Amino acid sequence: STDTYIAKLNEALQTIKVKLPLDLSSPRVLIICGSGLGGIASKISSPLEIAYSDIPGFKVSTVAGHAGKLVFGTMGSNAVPVMCMVGRLHFYEGYEFNDTNFPVRLASLLGVSTMIVTNAAGGLNTGYKAGDLMIIDDHLNLPGLAGFHPLRGPNLEMFGPRFQPLSDAYSLKLRQLFFQKKLALNITRTIHEGTYVFAAGPTFESRAEVRMLRVLGGDAVGMSTVPEVIVGRHCGLEVLAVSLITNEGLGAKPASAFDKEPERLDKGMASHDEVLENANAASKDVQMLVSEVVNEL
Ligand code: 6GU
Repeated sequence: STDTYIAKLNEALQTIKVKLPLDLSSPRVLIICGSGLGGIASKISSPLEIAYSDIPGFKVSTVAGHAGKLVFGTMGSNAVPVMCMVGRLHFYEGYEFNDTNFPVRLASLLGVSTMIVTNAAGGLNTGYKAGDLMIIDDHLNLPGLAGFHPLRGPNLEMFGPRFQPLSDAYSLKLRQLFFQKKLALNITRTIHEGTYVFAAGPTFESRAEVRMLRVLGGDAVGMSTVPEVIVGRHCGLEVLAVSLITNEGLGAKPASAFDKEPERLDKGMASHDEVLENANAASKDVQMLVSEVVNEL
């Protein structure tokens, strides 16, 4: 029930509060690290780690490439206090949205006002290459439209309204700031701006599904981020969300039974190894950009 859920949140809150030194006890920013992007936490000074398994009510991440810990500390020359999730929880792991979004609500109760979310995503836009970044400026919440929505159920009035608007979900100011930092840091990696499609997973999309999502206006597709963003917005957080494109060339037609010499056997085939490999290669740039943005908050 709602009461049990809020009691669980408060219990987790107390558990964390007694572990945090005073200067880290009011984080300003929540950072959620995507697949292979946990290195963002290496930009945190005087880190204090708390394993998910040590926090009552917290689920643990079961995915390769995702650890399961909160890292508290400061970032940048301005020593901005942050709370960083290394290892996120996904709907496809079998958890309810109330579980996967627990950390976001916890961050809100700790006083966080901004959320920075990163993810690894497949490129739908044919102009996107593996290794490109995409600032998310809108989303398609496919499970949500079909009724699997993170805010389904009794509204938690203590956080936000019943009918949360999402037309301004991705802060223009934070998107501008991210792009400014790319220029200031002389980062040559291509950065796009586009629509992220949330597909529940855990399979990667079929070729035909990729082409369908393209028609619908999606630029990148992944299995996370949108639930956290929605709950973050419901809590009143400002949101910056960035995708690292880890797969390109998706959606190509498969080899044909009519070909004398079938080719393209695995062209456009996504794999988790490829996701982690490309995420690793881009990780340094993402770390720098995120920490520079945080430093201004
Ligand atoms: Cl190709 N699809 C989905 N759903 N998630 C991904 C991905 C693809 N690449 C990284 N994450």
